[in-house]
Amino acid sequence: MKILITGGAGFIGSNLILHLHDKYPDYEILNVDKLTYASDLSYLKPLESSERYSFSQTDIVDREAVRKVIQDFKPDGIIHLAAESHVDNSIAGPEPFILTNVLGTFNLLEECRALWSAGEKEFSAYRFHHVSTDEVYGTLGDTGLFSETTPYAPNSPYSASKASSDFVVRSYHHTYGMNVVTTNCSNNYGPHQHDEKLIPVVIRTALSKKPIPVYGKGENIRDWLFVRDHCKAIDMVFHDGRSGETYNVGGRNEWKNIDLVRAICDELNLLTGNGPDGDYKNLITFVTDRPGHDLRYAIDATKLEQELCWQNTQDFRRDLRETVNWYIQKYTS
Ligand SMILES: NC(=O)c1ccc[n+]([C@@H]2O[C@H](COP(=O)([O-])OP(=O)(O)OC[C@H]3O[C@@H](n4cnc5c(N)ncnc54)[C@H](O)[C@@H]3O)[C@@H](O)[C@H]2O)c1
Repeated sequence: MKILITGGAGFIGSNLILHLHDKYPDYEILNVDKLTYASDLSYLKPLESSERYSFSQTDIVDREAVRKVIQDFKPDGIIHLAAESHVDNSIAGPEPFILTNVLGTFNLLEECRALWSAGEKEFSAYRFHHVSTDEVYGTLGDTGLFSETTPYAPNSPYSASKASSDFVVRSYHHTYGMNVVTTNCSNNYGPHQHDEKLIPVVIRTALSKKPIPVYGKGENIRDWLFVRDHCKAIDMVFHDGRSGETYNVGGRNEWKNIDLVRAICDELNLLTGNGPDGDYKNLITFVTDRPGHDLRYAIDATKLEQELCWQNTQDFRRDLRETVNWYIQKYTS
């Protein structure tokens, strides 16, 4: 099996490649990544000497480059994670989001369609897995959960670009019979996340004794899932998900931002014992809210649990501690 993974030098992609390389000794993996500011290839150093892993620095917006990499590698399947992924950046400058997330996805679909239409196997034997987000559903009020049938209502340029790409992927199944699956996951946490995202920001600013910025009053709620549980879900859906279906992935683990920030401060207090006046929480500072900030996301993962027997194995306190420890090492070594 030859799998092409896009965005493998990013947060989830690097965790996913390590997971798949370890679990499937007969798989050949090609990591296709532009290496934007959000990437870090050093996370894949353990695979440098592996004959089953290779890397191509390719921009998925460049159609010719995508054609070449796909025609050369001839993947049996693609897991597509490459994206511009930070909501704040999409508000400041949406264009790269439309280019990478929409046009880049289209380029991959078109070049896979060309390769697989002329392939040795049936067209439908090849798999295209699109990794997406719960943010496509917009925002929830105090109650309810996002299911696979929740209408799309994206509110930021980031979520709108991901929603658009979900629809393009869907159309390739219904129009051309391409074997596609899409996963829509909630917020991930764990090692390898870029410094700009909430959990690394909290840890980095706390360790340097700077104000820890929290949007608005910190009332926004997110459903947090450990990145390795997300990788297991992607693995299951890629291999066993029904063609043309979407699967929601989530942690049943809702946290108000302010409570999560406090929990991280408590971990830091415990692990470093070095907070200002004995407590990193003293650094929490409320800042002007993000425009159009969705109030609450929460996922109903019943379909994934019942159809594919996926289990969320996270123990939030344990996995948060591992995460905080990982960033302490990163920021203090
Ligand atoms: N992080 C989350 O909590 C979360 C939750 C649900 C879904 N997702 C989705 O999962 C995927 C991965 O997210 P992440 O958090 O790992 O993102 P990330 O920003 O950490 O990594 C994205 C990777 O894509 C690469 N990339 C960006 N533009 C590219 C281009 N034009 N061509 C090739 N490569 C390019 C970057 O270099 C980077 O390595 C995204 O599609 C995102 O929408 C993320």
